[in-house]
Amino acid sequence: MIWDELKRPFLILAPMEGVTDVIFRQVVAKAGRPDLFFTEFTNVSSYASEKGRANALERLEIAPSDAPIIAQIWGKEPAHFAETVKALKSLGFAGVDLNFGCPDKNVNKTGGGAAMIKTPELAVECFRNACKNTDLPVSVKTRLGWSQIDEYKEWLPVLLNEHPAALTVHLRTKKEMSKVPAHYELIPEIIKLRDELSPKTKLIINGDIKDKEHALELYKKYPEVDGFMIGRGVFQNPYCFTGYIPTKGELMDLLFLHLDLYEEYSKTHKVSFEPLKHFFKIYINGFPGASDLRARLMDTHSIKEARDVLR
Ligand SMILES: Cc1cc2nc3c(=O)[nH]c(=O)nc-3n(C[C@H](O)[C@H](O)[C@H](O)COP(=O)(O)O)c2cc1C
Repeated sequence: MIWDELKRPFLILAPMEGVTDVIFRQVVAKAGRPDLFFTEFTNVSSYASEKGRANALERLEIAPSDAPIIAQIWGKEPAHFAETVKALKSLGFAGVDLNFGCPDKNVNKTGGGAAMIKTPELAVECFRNACKNTDLPVSVKTRLGWSQIDEYKEWLPVLLNEHPAALTVHLRTKKEMSKVPAHYELIPEIIKLRDELSPKTKLIINGDIKDKEHALELYKKYPEVDGFMIGRGVFQNPYCFTGYIPTKGELMDLLFLHLDLYEEYSKTHKVSFEPLKHFFKIYINGFPGASDLRARLMDTHSIKEARDVLR
C-alpha cells in the first residue's frame, strides 16, 4: 500500500487544476520529484457519462515519471464515484483521493468539492462507495470547514471515523479561500483527532508551505504529521521538493522542456497555446530583464514563436 511505503515526512505536489497536468508533472519530475504526485481533479460524473468519458480519461493520463501517483476525483453522485474508481487501478494509479475541499463556485453549486462539508452523510456515502469498488487505498483532501474554522471539530471526525488511508487538511475554511495565512496553530488539535479516531490514517498538512526546508521546519515542530503537500510553492521554485535554488539557465532549460513536452502532447491531443502562457512566470522570474522577456513571450502565438523569443 503506497501510503505505508512512503518515508516520513513525505512531500506531495498538490493537485492543481490547469497546472499539475501530465506535462507539468514531468517538468517537476525533471527538477526534482516529490515523493508522491496527485492528478488535477477529475469529475466522476464526466467519467460516468458517455459524452464526458474521453475527456475524463485524458485528465487521468500519466507519464512513466509520475509513478507513484494518486488520482484525485470529485463529484456528488455516489454511484459515479463507484464507477470511476473501478477504472483507476488498471490506469496505473497507486491510490484514489476524494476532493472534499474545492472552493470553486461552479463545483460547489453542483454539491461537490467543499460543499461536501455541508452534506457529511453524502460525503460518507461517496467515500464508502469508493472503498467498496476498488482495492486501491482511498484518501480525502479537505478544508477545516465551510465558513467557520471551528467546524473542523465536527467535520474531521466524520472523515476520520471512516478511516481513510490518508487525510490532507488544507488549513483554511472554504470561505477563507487562500486569502488568510494557513492555521498552523490547529495542527496539534488535528493530530489529536487523528490519533484518537484513526491512528493509521496518514495525516498530511497543506497550506502556504513553500518548499522542502519549510516542510522540514514544520515536521520538527509537529513530528506526528506524516506528510506535507506543496501547491503554489512550486510556482516560486519548481525545484521546491529538493531544496535546490536553480540558476536562470536551469529555469530556461525547464521551460524549453515544458515547450518540448507540450509540442509532443499536441500531436495527439487537442490543446490550445494560450493556457501554456500561465506557466511562463514560473521559469522567467527573478532576474534582470525577466519581466520584459515575459511580456514578449505573452505576445507569442505558437511554440515556435515562444522558442524564437527565448533564443
Ligand atoms: C490553480 C489551482 C488549482 C487547484 N486545483 C485543485 C484541485 O484540482 N484539487 C484540489 O484538491 N485542490 C486544488 N487546489 C488547491 C491546492 O491543492 C492547495 O490545497 C492550495 O493551493 C493550498 O496549498 P498551497 O498554499 O501550498 O498552494 C488548487 C489550487 C490552485 C492554486
